[in-house]
Amino acid sequence: MNLILFGAPGAGKGTQALELAKSYQIPHISTGEMFRQAMAKHTPMGDEAAKYINKGNLVPDDVTIGIVKERLSNPDCQNGFILDGFPRTTFQAESLEKILQESNKKIDYVIDIDVNQDALIQRLTGRRMCSKCGASYHIIHRPSKIEGVCDECGNELYIRKDDNLESVKTRLETYQKQTKPLIDFYKQRDCLVVIDGNQDIKKVFADIVSKLGDNK
Ligand code: AP5
Repeated sequence: MNLILFGAPGAGKGTQALELAKSYQIPHISTGEMFRQAMAKHTPMGDEAAKYINKGNLVPDDVTIGIVKERLSNPDCQNGFILDGFPRTTFQAESLEKILQESNKKIDYVIDIDVNQDALIQRLTGRRMCSKCGASYHIIHRPSKIEGVCDECGNELYIRKDDNLESVKTRLETYQKQTKPLIDFYKQRDCLVVIDGNQDIKKVFADIVSKLGDNK
């Protein structure tokens, strides 16, 4: 199954993608996480991406499409994948269609996790992340068992540089202007599924699984 997890920053894409990847045994591909790893290693691409990401702006399309194309060509994507945070512009969505067409594939579902704006700001400014396994926590909604330590792998948790209020506001504006129009793009392709993301994490997961059906 080829899935896109769609939604505003903080909607819960990463949280749900990690669980879906385990449940459906398909890789979770997060462009944001790929950029953060490159930034941590200070690769040329990572240093370039940091200039955009830390301010809450989108990384240029050519860079982003290039890393996704390469990642999708890996053998582990043959039986399906979960894209999280990609596509984010109409050009990226059109490019993805072309990349998939080259290997006779298509997107089966675009899962739009819909969350109200106030909740998004609260979720992002209270988020804590694990740099090792990518697990995401929240100081109120999903605290780790030991403060500052990942439940999954024991690594130290950190606060993302782009989770400060100023960057969060820019990211939400960017989403409205550049990414939200993709909802119509995927409605036209008849693969959009809207999920109420204002519910608790387990209920959101249950709703997604019920929409996907037994396509494991
Ligand atoms: P990316 O890492 O993709 O960030 P994002 O889209 O802004 O989304 P987030 O990771 O902030 O949120 P999420 O929806 O995954 O929420 P999460 O599950 O963590 O991208 C970062 C940057 O990289 C971009 O700004 C851009 O610069 C660049 N980039 C990436 N892709 C790009 C692309 N395609 N093109 C160009 N540039 C690109 O949850 C958030 C918090 O809420 C957590 O604390 C979590 O515990 C909590 N939470 C989750 N679900 C719930 C719930 N149901 N109830 C209560 N709390 C919840």
